[in-house]
Amino acid sequence: MITTLIDRVLDRLTFLDPLAEAIQSRIGGRLAAAGPPARRAKDLLNGTWLGHPLHPALTDLPLGAWSGAAALDLLSGGEATPLGRGADVLIGLGCAGGAAAAVTGIADWQDSHGLERRTGLAHGLLNTGALACFAGSFLLRLAGARRPALLLSTAGFGAAMSAGYLGGDLIFRQGAQVNRNAWVSGPRRWTAVAEEADVPEGGLVRREARGVPVLLTRRGAALSAVAAVCPHAGGPLQEGSLDAEVVTCPWHGSAFDTADGRVVHGPACVALPVYEVRVVDGKVEVRAAPTA
Ligand code: FES
Repeated sequence: MITTLIDRVLDRLTFLDPLAEAIQSRIGGRLAAAGPPARRAKDLLNGTWLGHPLHPALTDLPLGAWSGAAALDLLSGGEATPLGRGADVLIGLGCAGGAAAAVTGIADWQDSHGLERRTGLAHGLLNTGALACFAGSFLLRLAGARRPALLLSTAGFGAAMSAGYLGGDLIFRQGAQVNRNAWVSGPRRWTAVAEEADVPEGGLVRREARGVPVLLTRRGAALSAVAAVCPHAGGPLQEGSLDAEVVTCPWHGSAFDTADGRVVHGPACVALPVYEVRVVDGKVEVRAAPTA
């Protein structure tokens, strides 16, 4: 089984952990020192504005371009025919896309831990190797040295495919970047979850509504109810902080508007589910908004 093999390899890569920690701490320090502009830039790279992580969307460009280049190299026999020149162009395009994918990947990886972080670092190192091979191949092609260029692009293609496999493992087996509220729909019927007096101004109150964790907040007379689990990696929002109506996750700092669930800051990209809320006989009741 390939997954068993991958597990064995990842188990042997524990020596990467101190390196990962050092890199994260360095990047974290730089981001903190740069303040709000750095945070906005990280939001951009995480894909907060897109409602979807940006990195997996960008990886299609280098993988598609490099795969096309491999096919054209095969058809051209590695010669500088029009097809071979087409491969050269695709390799250049793939390198540009690979650089953009690398930056967004680092932004996502910065908020990872444990096995996910180790796998992400291995994925990134393989991709760095792939990018270096293809960049070298591109320069050799420009210089007319097609044989060594072909060797480098073949090595780069192998590294890129291996990195792609690890990227898939990160998402589909380890669950990185998966919305933690993807399967949560909330109670269909009004469900009492708290006494009204249990929800103070400025407080973050977690309750269960038919098994669904709900976060209750108050602003004056207005009560809000949103999912209590951070969609980014499952952080407990009731342990975070509340500023006006914005709740900040204690794990990686994603911030959400409790009035409408919208993401104010990443790394989260997906909004919080919002529930309808009312008070009946002093009890706070919530339900999922009825679907049309
Ligand atoms: S779990 Fe990562 S920001 Fe909430």
